[in-house]
Amino acid sequence: MDLGLNGKKALVMGATGGLGGAVARQLHAEGAHVILGGRNVDRLQQLAKELSDENGSSILLADLADRESIENALGVLGPAGETDVDIFVANGGGPRPGSVLEVEGHEWSRSFEEMIGSVFALTRHVVPAMRTRAWGRILNIVSSGVQQPVVGLGMSNALRSALIGYAKTLAAEVAGDGVTVNSVLPGRIATDRLRQIDAANARRLGRALEDIVNSSKATIPIGRYGEREEFANMVAFLVSERASYVTGTQIRVDGGLIRSV
Ligand SMILES: NC(=O)c1ccc[n+]([C@@H]2O[C@H](COP(=O)([O-])OP(=O)(O)OC[C@H]3O[C@@H](n4cnc5c(N)ncnc54)[C@H](OP(=O)(O)O)[C@@H]3O)[C@@H](O)[C@H]2O)c1
Repeated sequence: MDLGLNGKKALVMGATGGLGGAVARQLHAEGAHVILGGRNVDRLQQLAKELSDENGSSILLADLADRESIENALGVLGPAGETDVDIFVANGGGPRPGSVLEVEGHEWSRSFEEMIGSVFALTRHVVPAMRTRAWGRILNIVSSGVQQPVVGLGMSNALRSALIGYAKTLAAEVAGDGVTVNSVLPGRIATDRLRQIDAANARRLGRALEDIVNSSKATIPIGRYGEREEFANMVAFLVSERASYVTGTQIRVDGGLIRSV
């Protein structure tokens, strides 16, 4: 299937990470020019070098936890209404694990700004020009926790739901202008983030890491962790020309982990 991504410009945040990196590589392979968003210039340059054939790639430095850094990034993208980003993949780091009761007020606000406020700001900046061009894709990478809260990931479960409400509202507001807004819910995809969570659970429960990983896999009907490319395949479809009638959805890439219908 030709995804129709040739020549499209895609901004992928968290491009140096497991899921973001796989999405960036996939969109690049499908012919898009990818803007690699992130805060670590060395890692971004390394990936840009890898993606330096004719489709090209570029770098957008932005620390999602730093308001000033985001303002600078918006400036680099150009004035709202004139940006040339066709596809925006909102992605970044996850919050620290723990119970919701452990989290103090200032930490809620700080994490909200990093995980959610930054996405609102970037989305608001790129959407007007998408509407003018009558073509655009907003894709949020969230978590299975928005449908089935993950034990021990209190902040993630609570904060990401705000993004789901935002995305569903925005989807209806821009649907008539050729812009789709969707969210993808990773279950357990093998990346550094998942390794850190498994290690934290092993420490918390005083169990061997291998034991934790095996128990975790046993809760997934497919019986294994997902590969990052399996995740990126779904994102590539949702941001493509082919998904023009799909908007306002939450799509699971979880091997059947979420038990609800
Ligand atoms: N993997 C899974 O199974 C899974 C499941 C549910 C939810 N998720 C969520 O999906 C997202 C991506 O997951 P992942 O597995 O790809 O994680 P990952 O490998 O740890 O990658 C996280 C990415 O976010 C970037 N990042 C972190 N903090 C940032 C900041 N303040 N500003 C800019 N960039 C920042 C990291 O950049 P640096 O290179 O600079 O650190 C990295 O590129 C996370 O929010 C995670 O919680 C993942």
